[in-house]
Amino acid sequence: MAKILTLTLNPALDLTVELPVLAAGQVNRSDEMHTHAAGKGVNVAQVLADLGHQLTVSGFLGEDNLQAFETLFAKRGFVDAFVRVPGETRSNIKVAERDGRITDINGPGPVVDAAAQQALLDRLVQIAPGHDAVVVAGSLPRGVTAQWLRELIERLNSLGLKVALDSSGEALREALKASPWLIKPNTEELADALGCEVVSHAAEAHAAAQLHGQGIEHVVISHGADGVNWFSVGSALHASPPKVSVASTVGAGDSLLAGMLHGLLSADTPEQTLRTATAIAAMAVTQIGFGINDAAQLAQLEQGVRVRPLTEQ
Ligand SMILES: Nc1ncnc2c1ncn2[C@@H]1O[C@H](COP(=O)(O)OP(=O)(O)OP(=O)(O)O)[C@@H](O)[C@H]1O
Ligand SMILES: [Mg+2]
Repeated sequence: MAKILTLTLNPALDLTVELPVLAAGQVNRSDEMHTHAAGKGVNVAQVLADLGHQLTVSGFLGEDNLQAFETLFAKRGFVDAFVRVPGETRSNIKVAERDGRITDINGPGPVVDAAAQQALLDRLVQIAPGHDAVVVAGSLPRGVTAQWLRELIERLNSLGLKVALDSSGEALREALKASPWLIKPNTEELADALGCEVVSHAAEAHAAAQLHGQGIEHVVISHGADGVNWFSVGSALHASPPKVSVASTVGAGDSLLAGMLHGLLSADTPEQTLRTATAIAAMAVTQIGFGINDAAQLAQLEQGVRVRPLTEQ
């Protein structure tokens, strides 16, 4: 069991609204509504907790709507190291229609000022040492720059911590300069961060070699239903997931990241690490939520994952 800290700088209260069909501009009646505390780092923490790890969660939370978060953290036994900021954590509304189409409406969230940013840095310097890895996942809140994220990762690196990063856009572009230990972009995020098209496996291998050269040890590139390419120094593996029926892809990327960390921190073989991570991500898409609630189903999904070296077709 590892001790892992996840950072969610811009968490969200997810409100899922289930409807037969969305009629824009009209009164719609929903079959079901669920609210839950979310954000990529919080999601990753939940999957890691399902795998038996010990979690500390941190980032910024709006102090006006804490309840769902505090309830979740207490229920899951997470150490709560979030810095509270004035205002409300944003709400992300997901309108889920019966045919599987999902419409997202993401709220703006609180502005995080310089004092709160410093408070988080100070807290992390105190609490981060002693963790086996730190996950930094998701977007940046208003008031936080990509440069600040880069400095945060540099600070964590200087404390000797393994930093796993899942972000996008300018945040990812800047953060790459700090050379985190592991990154998990999807194909579009990687192409956007590198400012070039990364369309073939050869182009990915080339990009990964460049990233390895600057000190990023693990480049995990997710390809949706086509699976995952994992480039580490001296090894490149591809995993294809088994065919599953898709209930919702929410949390697939977070599940993959959690699975990769699990294997890497448990010293599983690379093949086993990628197989389990791909099965966990596939399991996420079979559910409206995500997480590991059925070990037998996970074992079955693992058997359906195909892992091969990337040099073979
Ligand atoms: N339809 C699917 N069937 C099986 N596995 C899937 C499917 N879609 C996604 N996955 C698994 O989930 C992983 C992550 O998915 P994806 O590449 O879409 O990540 P992402 O774009 O980061 O998603 P997120 O929206 O969660 O951030 C994939 O690498 C794959 O292993
Ligand atoms: Mg993602």
